[in-house]
Amino acid sequence: MLRGPLSPFIKWPGGKRWAALQISELISSSLSGTYYEPFLGGGAVFFHGLPRRAVLADINKDLIATYRTIRNDPARVIRVLRRRAVTEEMYYRVRDDEPKDAAGRAARFLYLNRTAFGGIYRLNMAGKFNVPYGGGDRTPEVLWKTEILRLASRALRRAKLIVSDFEPVIEAAGTGDVVYCDPTYTVAHDNNGFIRYNERNFSWSDQERLASAAFRAADRGAMVLVSNAHHRSVRELYRGASIETLARMSTVTPRSDLRRPVKELLISIGGCGRPSGPPSK
Ligand SMILES: C[S@@+](CC[C@H](N)C(=O)[O-])C[C@H]1O[C@@H](n2cnc3c(N)ncnc32)[C@H](O)[C@@H]1O
Repeated sequence: MLRGPLSPFIKWPGGKRWAALQISELISSSLSGTYYEPFLGGGAVFFHGLPRRAVLADINKDLIATYRTIRNDPARVIRVLRRRAVTEEMYYRVRDDEPKDAAGRAARFLYLNRTAFGGIYRLNMAGKFNVPYGGGDRTPEVLWKTEILRLASRALRRAKLIVSDFEPVIEAAGTGDVVYCDPTYTVAHDNNGFIRYNERNFSWSDQERLASAAFRAADRGAMVLVSNAHHRSVRELYRGASIETLARMSTVTPRSDLRRPVKELLISIGGCGRPSGPPSK
């Protein structure tokens, strides 16, 4: 019997560890079928709520391959990881390496996630990981000194893991299912009064595609939750849905006196009597 909540074992930009409790409570009040998470990243919400049946997806194939390998054989990944010292020289050797086997590739992914500067994941135009060495306290040791990987492996046995764009994943959800979407944000938070677009990773037309897929899934009887930037353009996109604001403290600066609250939106569509479609214009 697996008891939660678990912590994510991958650090991922935009990770929702800080909001996982609140989002999981909404999910468990509506879930009777399958849980869908089409923008998995570090999977903070999945690992917190540990739904019995899940479909987890992401467009990043190295990320999904790592989850599959941890699900299938965590001990083998740990054996490879333990052989890698945390030094700058080893970092660049691992970064340049192209392991042929699944355990080697997963160990490389986790090693880089723990030792790259800021835990950033970034590929150059040729598809090669190009983040410099980070150093610091965030080493891979926790992955074998605690039960985190073995417990994650058990949790992932309840899940189907898919490399996919989000749209076909959401399209599969229906009555009794819950879909939690945490896309890459396109507009920056408007606390400073300006809009910054992030067209390269996730364009505004992807945001429109996501909103349409979310409303369609709600029409089929699913409950859909979407995290997104605290911005009026997002509110407008989800007009007719129930929208709340979640706030967390910014972690950009270690000085607590300089930290400011950062707001995000949590949009709920369908499920438990909530409106399931945008009003007609
Ligand atoms: C903000 S992160 C999700 C973070 C996650 N909730 C967590 O707790 O770590 C967004 C994820 O969406 C994925 N992504 C970007 N575009 C996508 C697309 N078109 N379809 C599916 N996934 C996509 C990225 O690879 C990234 O892992």
